[in-house]
Amino acid sequence: MKITILDNEQAFFSRAAFRIASEMAANPKALMGLSTGRTTTGIHAALASLYSQYPFDTSGLTVFAVDEITNMPRECPASCYYLLLQQVVKPLGIRPENFIMPDPMAANAEAECRDFARRVRRRGETSLQVLGIGENGHLGFNQPGTPFGREAWMSVMDESLDERLRRENNIAPDVPMGGLTFGIRDIMSRSEKILLVANGAAKAQVVEQALFGPVTEALPASVLQLHPDCEVLLDKAAGALVEKRLQAR
Ligand code: GLP
Repeated sequence: MKITILDNEQAFFSRAAFRIASEMAANPKALMGLSTGRTTTGIHAALASLYSQYPFDTSGLTVFAVDEITNMPRECPASCYYLLLQQVVKPLGIRPENFIMPDPMAANAEAECRDFARRVRRRGETSLQVLGIGENGHLGFNQPGTPFGREAWMSVMDESLDERLRRENNIAPDVPMGGLTFGIRDIMSRSEKILLVANGAAKAQVVEQALFGPVTEALPASVLQLHPDCEVLLDKAAGALVEKRLQAR
């Protein structure tokens, strides 16, 4: 596992953007698994800026998000669909038919998960899957305790995200929201390469545990230790404890 710690947040955003852009440029028919959240918002801004300066052919690229929030319409600025559309799909001119996302309002969410995974699978193997990590170690919406063998499914969001999304988007407490996500098994078996990204001091401990602690379903991101081609990019704050581990080696 290659781990790189960047000196500051801007360098982290730029390096991650460069890694994604080089994958896209080197493999114009790539299937790219992306992630949404605060971490990737900075990365996507750097990616859009990189692309505007050094455009490459995006007509054959396909992108999808590893997860989506159910019962939140696509027009809502917090939906993963909306975030990727604004941050990546439009700025890079990716074709609408090559942007694969589940329907967050589907009446049968479990069936929608299976259909989403099928539609992605039809495009082949994922060339590069970009993943953020939750402060509790979640990957996609696979929360601690999720079996590693799980395929695309309807999980839950962690409480703090649920609370933040409701507050920021005026969603009433009685509106049920869920986390439709690729399962750990999909992520591990369908991604040729994985790029794990984390920034900020709040992630330092969970990142260290995920990379150096035991591989356990109690910490979903720890499964990445078993992936044959996983690269990790961290900013200095998120990498503080990892840096100590690497120095002690
Ligand atoms: C969110 C998403 C993940 C994301 C992670 C980190 O809940 N479901 O796909 O990678 O948690 O989010 P953030 O970057 O906002 O900390």
